[in-house]
Amino acid sequence: MMRIGLIGLGNAGSHLGRWLYRKHLGLQAVYSRTLVKAESFGKRRNIFYTNRLAELPADLDLYILAVPDQVIPQVARELAGLNPAGSVVHVAGATPSTVLEPYFKRYGVLYPLQTLTLGRRIKADQVPFCIEASDEELKKQLLDLAMAISGRAYLVSDAERAWLHVTAVMVNNFSNHLYTLAAGILDREGLDFDLLRPLILETARKVQKLPPRAAQTGPAARGDQKTIARHREMLAKYPDSLAVYKCITESLVQLKIKN
Ligand SMILES: NC(=O)c1ccc[n+]([C@@H]2O[C@H](COP(=O)([O-])OP(=O)(O)OC[C@H]3O[C@@H](n4cnc5c(N)ncnc54)[C@H](OP(=O)(O)O)[C@@H]3O)[C@@H](O)[C@H]2O)c1
Repeated sequence: MMRIGLIGLGNAGSHLGRWLYRKHLGLQAVYSRTLVKAESFGKRRNIFYTNRLAELPADLDLYILAVPDQVIPQVARELAGLNPAGSVVHVAGATPSTVLEPYFKRYGVLYPLQTLTLGRRIKADQVPFCIEASDEELKKQLLDLAMAISGRAYLVSDAERAWLHVTAVMVNNFSNHLYTLAAGILDREGLDFDLLRPLILETARKVQKLPPRAAQTGPAARGDQKTIARHREMLAKYPDSLAVYKCITESLVQLKIKN
């Protein structure tokens, strides 16, 4: 079994840490730059913890960088100072594995394709892992690790992962932003966002069975210009929402015209 060190205990790191620990997958050490976070994770599980990267054991087989994309090179450089024996991976969708190349001989990516938020309990089997690595042996090790975590592991190149990431942003972050805009309007109009929750759930559930195109309903899909015009008038006092409404309606209409 690999001996693993985890660097970063934010949204992604805390989930990864919990899965690795619960499934007895060799988590040996955790680092967080905030001592209370490292301490609260490590003490409870009797795992080595530190808020100083230089104190991490240098003889682990795998180091997982779960830090924001923009600081991966900086943290990697610092970790390289430890002269670690093992491989180093990050967990980012949008950042190529090769950002680690200047610092480590063996490097890769272990990208959990899920929205991970501190305090939410995500079941590991709901998380596909996208794997990339500098060599075949590390690919195999990461595939085995991801299979042991979630049972869903895929070899995905840096370029392919970038496409998955941009579409993940569209389906997850954009949808959630629409919820935020809708919640704001309903709040101002004295209505309860709870009324929309069953609709949100069914929209997500039906695309588990149907292609998204087949699941599309609503005025644009029906070619109902009168309703669209009325919606636009109503949204005039919510300019942010109006801009989004116009843009997405235009996209829906264009797709309908093309097919
Ligand atoms: N959240 C998701 O849904 C998700 C899903 C898949 C992949 N990812 C990937 O996971 C990685 C981390 O994202 P996240 O959402 O977990 O971010 P996050 O919640 O902000 O957590 C980032 C962690 O990195 C630490 N950190 C920040 N700057 C640092 C620095 N300069 N040196 C050392 N540690 C530093 C933070 O420490 P403090 O807590 O002390 O600030 C925190 O523990 C990213 O590469 C992201 O693309 C995220």
